[in-house]
Amino acid sequence: MRFFVTAAKGTEGVLRDELRELGVRALRADRGGVHVDGPPSLAWRLCVQSRIAVRVYERLTDGEARDADELYDLVRELEWERYLSPRHTLAVGASAKNAFTTHTQFLSRRVKDAVVDRLRIREGERPSVDLDDPDVRLFLHGNNGYFTLYRDLSGDPLHMRGYRKHVTDAPLKETLAAAMLRMSGWNRGAMLVDPMCGSGTIAIEADLWARDIAPGLDRRFGFERHLDFDDVARRNYEDMRADCARMALDEGPVILASDNDPRALLAAKENARAARSFVRFSEQDVRALEPKGFDGALVTNPPYGERLEGGMAFFRAMARALAAMNGHTITVLAGTPMIEDALNGERALREVAKPHQVFNGPIECRVLRYRVPNKTEGASPVAVEPRGSRS
Ligand SMILES: C[S@@+](CC[C@H](N)C(=O)[O-])C[C@H]1O[C@@H](n2cnc3c(N)ncnc32)[C@H](O)[C@@H]1O
Repeated sequence: MRFFVTAAKGTEGVLRDELRELGVRALRADRGGVHVDGPPSLAWRLCVQSRIAVRVYERLTDGEARDADELYDLVRELEWERYLSPRHTLAVGASAKNAFTTHTQFLSRRVKDAVVDRLRIREGERPSVDLDDPDVRLFLHGNNGYFTLYRDLSGDPLHMRGYRKHVTDAPLKETLAAAMLRMSGWNRGAMLVDPMCGSGTIAIEADLWARDIAPGLDRRFGFERHLDFDDVARRNYEDMRADCARMALDEGPVILASDNDPRALLAAKENARAARSFVRFSEQDVRALEPKGFDGALVTNPPYGERLEGGMAFFRAMARALAAMNGHTITVLAGTPMIEDALNGERALREVAKPHQVFNGPIECRVLRYRVPNKTEGASPVAVEPRGSRS
């Protein structure tokens, strides 16, 4: 079977790397995601295990359509009775470029008509439409007169792990935090620091990744509501989930997260508790940050736009504090060029990779990566005790 695993724009490369690490052999990165071939159980496993994927789509059919009738025929040919019964609910989304029409509502309606007409004739009844919480969600993609119809296996997007009950201003999606962590080159053994942690997403994702806790263990997926997910499929799926759960480690590296906003810290601690994460939180201004070891990774997402107080002066002070993190790698998600200017002004920060463009929702950002050479010989950093208790 053919699947398309989607990713936020700019994170397709790290998704491909992650999928390879998860044992996927037949794959090809593309704009917006990675094409994957394999059995249904592979798609279920990717829903449970991928930290970077946004959705997992199954490719149901594809072909040329020069008008609405050809599209209708293409869709109606499919054995819809395998995928849903008249008791299921349905929703269809669409997007198209250079097609006989780019009117997405019209395209969605045509697909929906073809599905329900086929089922009405075969079963005497038709499924109804539920745009908010459908059992089966379809997505039609058209490009240059060629259409591909997908079935969404994930249901709610995969960034919704279930642990983030509380958010502060500008929370990062869990999937983008996971992508940043992979881009940072962090080895999952060294200490990790986020000094502007907001609701804690980067730190919690780091902890879950370091301890091999699968991100989708505590949630349900769209495919569980599909007709072809029968009792045998359910048993196989539950076995696979149990295997994933067994991989989780109790111990992990020290992960420190701080923020100067006590409300953000409250939210972050609640989220960490819900995720059963061991991140250690503290209230601190990033400008007073001090290294807690001779090496480690700092991964962070500074404020910008309306949430920012102090403008360039703040970023310069922040950059000075980051440049004092001897021996650390520094990875920053920059939502404004001011951050890059300030960091590039610090001589101690050595760029280790070119800035990489990603999209945080609609906001164009750059992932910046530096290293601070270790100049601390003879100095005595604050000792960090090994991990033991929860935050
Ligand atoms: C863009 S948000 C981070 C969002 C976070 N990645 C998340 O997923 O929730 C930036 C954070 O920087 C914090 N912040 C702003 N100024 C700060 C300062 N001087 N010191 C420490 N944190 C600061 C804000 O309170 C805010 O939580």
